Amino acid sequence: MTEKGLREVVAGQTKVSDIDGAAGRLWYAGYEIGDLAANASFEEVVFLLHHAHLPNREELDELTEFLVNERELSPFLLKLMPDLAQQTSPMSMLRTGISAASAYDPDGWDESAEAQYRKALRLIAKTPTLIATYHRLRTGQEVLPPNPKLPHAANFLWMLLGEEPDLDDAAALDTTLILYGDHTMNASTFTARVIASTLSDMFSAITGAIGALKGPLHGGANEEAQKMAEEVDKPENAEAYVRDRLARHEKIMGFGHAVYRTMDPRAAVLKQMCKELGERVGEPQWYEIYAALEATTLEQKGLYPNVDLYAAGVYHMLGIPTDLMTPLFALARMAGWTAHVREQYANNRIIRPGSEYVGPRDRTYVPIEERP
Ligand SMILES: CC(C)(COP(=O)(O)OP(=O)(O)OC[C@H]1O[C@@H](n2cnc3c(N)ncnc32)[C@H](O)[C@@H]1OP(=O)(O)O)[C@@H](O)C(=O)NCCC(=O)NCCS
Repeated sequence: MTEKGLREVVAGQTKVSDIDGAAGRLWYAGYEIGDLAANASFEEVVFLLHHAHLPNREELDELTEFLVNERELSPFLLKLMPDLAQQTSPMSMLRTGISAASAYDPDGWDESAEAQYRKALRLIAKTPTLIATYHRLRTGQEVLPPNPKLPHAANFLWMLLGEEPDLDDAAALDTTLILYGDHTMNASTFTARVIASTLSDMFSAITGAIGALKGPLHGGANEEAQKMAEEVDKPENAEAYVRDRLARHEKIMGFGHAVYRTMDPRAAVLKQMCKELGERVGEPQWYEIYAALEATTLEQKGLYPNVDLYAAGVYHMLGIPTDLMTPLFALARMAGWTAHVREQYANNRIIRPGSEYVGPRDRTYVPIEERP
């Protein structure tokens, strides 16, 4: 008998990241996630995920310069964006936008390891511009060019909101990007690796990953968590909300995990961030609502929060519209997805699992006139 959902099945080897679900620990290339969240920048983490070591100053400067120089969208993408802004949801825009970014990529059909790396970095560089351009267009605001003086996270806030971001806000966003950066063989990463394993191209692999992330059981959960907090409205309503949902056998979004059996270590960092940010911006109610949901869901169902619960609160207070929270997850995960795709190419065998046939056997063809 196969385990439904491939749970516990080891689908491949990786040096990118590792999880201990029982202990609630996560490492990127051997570095504990809490250590990276407290000390690294997202750009350093991009380098770490791709090279399995932290960059020295020269390596980091080179990577940062490449990312900054690749932020602009091609004229082809810019032409597509007004239609996408009017006709598609944010994640559908991203799926189409990333696919369309393959046109005019300077490396074209070059599939060498060097070209794949450059394509990966271009995808990381352009994702914030795609999301911000989309949002500015759909809200009738002027599209802002990337600011080469700002790091990845701060530049995104600038392009999205049109104001030089507060340093603390930019640092908070940067930390969330680190936390969302990679997560072993999750559904979207597995999707990307399956596509890469056929020796299809980087853009196809990442487009497929975005499709997998879009679902509410995966990346879509942060948006659902924020909607839930808004519906709950006050901490004292959390208990009845959770009780009602569980009685109807409905999921509480932002809780539970396929691997963690205790607190998700990313949620622990985000919980503290959500509390501090709420105090700083004068909106402590979000932390209080989420904390009340956490206490009551643990008590009633024994479930712990995952990364998406408190991330939603942090993003909300940073001014991120709710329907851009999953695209932000994608913006961060672009680092991990592309690292996994390159790792797959470097040591490839086509991924082709077996299946357990549970239908009828030994049947004989019956002409259509004789069928009931
Ligand atoms: C993440 C998720 C898909 C993992 O699913 P999974 O591996 O099948 O979960 P488990 O096997 O641990 O589930 C154990 C039990 O808890 C229930 N459960 C799990 N997550 C739940 C949730 N968020 N709310 C209510 N019940 C939940 C399951 O239905 C199952 O119940 P049962 O034993 O009565 O059938 C699931 O927890 C979920 O849907 N969470 C909400 C969406 C979310 O936050 N996703 C983001 C993940 S980072």
